[in-house]
Amino acid sequence: MSFETPDLMAEARRQIEICNACRYCEGFCAVFPAMTRDKAFSDGTLSHLANLCHNCRGCSYSCQYVPPHEFDLNVPAALANVRQDSWERHVKPAAFAKAFHAHGVAIMGLMVLLIAGFFMAAKSGGEGGFYAVFSHNTLVALFLPAFLLPLFLVALGLRSYWRETGGSCIRLSDLKEAFASVAKMKNLAGGHGEGCNFEKEDRYSQGRRFAHQAVMYGFLLCFAATSVATLMHYLLAMPAPYGLFSAPKLLGIPGGLLMVLGGVEMIRLKLKADPSLGAARVWGGEMAFVVLLVLVSATGLALYAATGTGLVTALLALHLGTVMTLFLLLPYSKMVHGFFRLSALIIEEQKKRGA
Ligand code: HEM
Ligand code: SF4
Ligand code: SF4
Repeated sequence: MSFETPDLMAEARRQIEICNACRYCEGFCAVFPAMTRDKAFSDGTLSHLANLCHNCRGCSYSCQYVPPHEFDLNVPAALANVRQDSWERHVKPAAFAKAFHAHGVAIMGLMVLLIAGFFMAAKSGGEGGFYAVFSHNTLVALFLPAFLLPLFLVALGLRSYWRETGGSCIRLSDLKEAFASVAKMKNLAGGHGEGCNFEKEDRYSQGRRFAHQAVMYGFLLCFAATSVATLMHYLLAMPAPYGLFSAPKLLGIPGGLLMVLGGVEMIRLKLKADPSLGAARVWGGEMAFVVLLVLVSATGLALYAATGTGLVTALLALHLGTVMTLFLLLPYSKMVHGFFRLSALIIEEQKKRGA
């Protein structure tokens, strides 16, 4: 399959028009009711449907028009290709995302090693321990731009996506419904709540949904732990290290464990599932993203376990290398899916109320 936008759109349009006539999968997910609003599908509508699709694969395993039928349908893949393409078109520069998805593991590995190597080299060239060379202020000065600049690029991409898909003014009720859906990852539960068909083909499983929630809530807990620690440092003059029963540790340790367990399960499921029902071109980059999340959390936990030993400096450099890589790759790795999928759920609420 070609990776040019018009070809991807034309193929998705062909398939969605067949689905819109068939409507057998109407109860499966949010995509099928959403498509019934239209008779003709613009690029913006297709991008919206693609970001609503949770790649549960239920429609493919139930479809009578998959190969060898001449209609040759593969709706999960057609939508996954349009979805990936929408992220690459809207978040600039597209070449970075394309490069990452072509050589994901290599780029991620190299970045982690280079950044960790920089921290190690600077520490060994300076006097005293790690924090004597890299004070809290220095670390904030390095990490804040590495976080905010990628976030700004994602925000610009979302603004452009919002325009293309016809998003309008956000109401509180839109946010309420969209966040309720994310909180339960409702669309990965399948139409009847039994789960999705991601790794067990025509049988249902909640595996991916539960693993996703472990990673997502784990990530949010770790993010909260870092934010609380920063506030404690600057507002309450309480510098690290913090004890086991402090807020940063009570949030960070369960968060890290959830991320490692959920991430490892997601890697296992991804290796089991059929790559041809997703965007096959970006499989490596997607895998690199999940591996990176596991590395961030595993090095954070290992760092805590190694407190007081000679391994601390090397583990700290490695942990900082993984965190900065995650930040810098935010616009170009699969991390963007959270922003775009959440936007699609909000826009869908607006469309449902006729906005
Ligand atoms: C904000 C709302 C979010 C939504 C609606 C959402 C939705 C989804 C969906 C539907 C999938 C499965 C389909 C696919 O592979 O694209 C997925 C995959 C994934 N999500 Fe999320 N997600 C959100 C946030 C997050 C967050 C904050 C994290 C953690 C940093 C996260 C981590 C992952 C991982 C690791 C995968 C698996 C990637 C893969 O197998 O290729 N998600 N997400
Ligand atoms: S995926 Fe197949 S069965 Fe489902 S609505 Fe489309 S054409 Fe019909
Ligand atoms: S793969 Fe799942 S979420 Fe996507 S359109 Fe098919 S049934 Fe809906």
